[in-house]
Amino acid sequence: MISHVLPTYNRAPLAFERGEGSWAIATDGTRYLDLGAGIAVNVLGHANPDLVAALTEQAGRIWHVSNLYQIPEQEKLADLLVKKTFADTVFFTNSGTEAAELAIKMVRKFWDHQGDPERIEILTFDGAFHGRSTGAIAAAGSDKMVKGFGPLMPGFRQLPWGDIEALKAVITDRTAAVLLEPIQGEGGIRPLDDAELREIRALCDKTGTLLVLDEVQCGMGRTGRLFAHEYAGIAPDIMMVAKGIGGGFPLGAVLATEQAAAGMVAGTHGSTYGGNPLACAVGARVMEIVADDTFLAEVNRKAALFRQKLEGLIAAHPNLFESVRGQGLMLGLKCKSAPADLVRAGYAQHILTVPAADDTLRLLPPLNISDEEIAEAVARLDKAAESLDA
Ligand SMILES: Cc1ncc(COP(=O)(O)O)c(C=O)c1O
Repeated sequence: MISHVLPTYNRAPLAFERGEGSWAIATDGTRYLDLGAGIAVNVLGHANPDLVAALTEQAGRIWHVSNLYQIPEQEKLADLLVKKTFADTVFFTNSGTEAAELAIKMVRKFWDHQGDPERIEILTFDGAFHGRSTGAIAAAGSDKMVKGFGPLMPGFRQLPWGDIEALKAVITDRTAAVLLEPIQGEGGIRPLDDAELREIRALCDKTGTLLVLDEVQCGMGRTGRLFAHEYAGIAPDIMMVAKGIGGGFPLGAVLATEQAAAGMVAGTHGSTYGGNPLACAVGARVMEIVADDTFLAEVNRKAALFRQKLEGLIAAHPNLFESVRGQGLMLGLKCKSAPADLVRAGYAQHILTVPAADDTLRLLPPLNISDEEIAEAVARLDKAAESLDA
């Protein structure tokens, strides 16, 4: 008999009833060190007092109003994002997938608005993940996600990841947009070089193509900069954000330049819940804490410490691990085989990690994880690896 919850996930036999910072506490009281953070969501850990205060204070005032009215909490968060990024304007969503949908719509509307509605081809890359809507699966194009859901939305073409020559061969002044994650998350913590990202930006500029970045997983301080593309010194035209921006409260956003958003006039897009006061009150507090140079410097310091310890782990288990990759606290341990056993062995050591494609184990802790917790995490990973060595 089918479970009452639609069985689209292979769930681990673990349930959590509380969280404290970097720890998730299971229903039997066991404390798990959480290096998944809800898959890069709980940027400030579980039950962060600042976020609990922001949420409860807002909950006592007003939860929800329609976007038919002004929403001061939404305007505050939009102001914070515009001030700290390339963007001139923001639309709030409830998830990364909804942000992907709007980003795709915005590209199409941009070219329609330019009088060129046939310019619809969006170039994407293999290994990409942009969500599970019909548009987002067509964009990513992986067999696993699209099988059985056809016919797919037209207008996408996937290229080999990071293959600038392949991009050069197909991008023209008929290309609508290039869409990519600066560091692929689900694809296995696969970063693009800064030089490659600059080259992609230059190719877009040369052909008049829009550059759309998906920073749903790698954004919001995860890499040690507020957004990952900042390392390359470039700016997109449109950017998708979600996950970390709500610190655990469902919230996403599409950021855009005034020019890219030119077609998105009243009536062209909407959302009942997107940008509601509860979500935006929390999002604004997350932004105030994360978009701060001192906070981001600490993310980088901790990342260096974590990486150094992971190099030791790799050296101790050369039969299991190949290398560590990623940026900031978006780290991937490239394994010699699929990391499912390692994730399970981690459960036995009371540590939570997340598998990804390309035989990669993802380590995405809260950005305020302590030095002691980093040492503890590597010690537990070492024990988990030892149990597999044995
Ligand atoms: C890069 C990227 N884009 C989009 C999404 C979809 O976000 P959501 O699950 O919030 O719809 C994800 C989720 O993992 C993601 O990692």
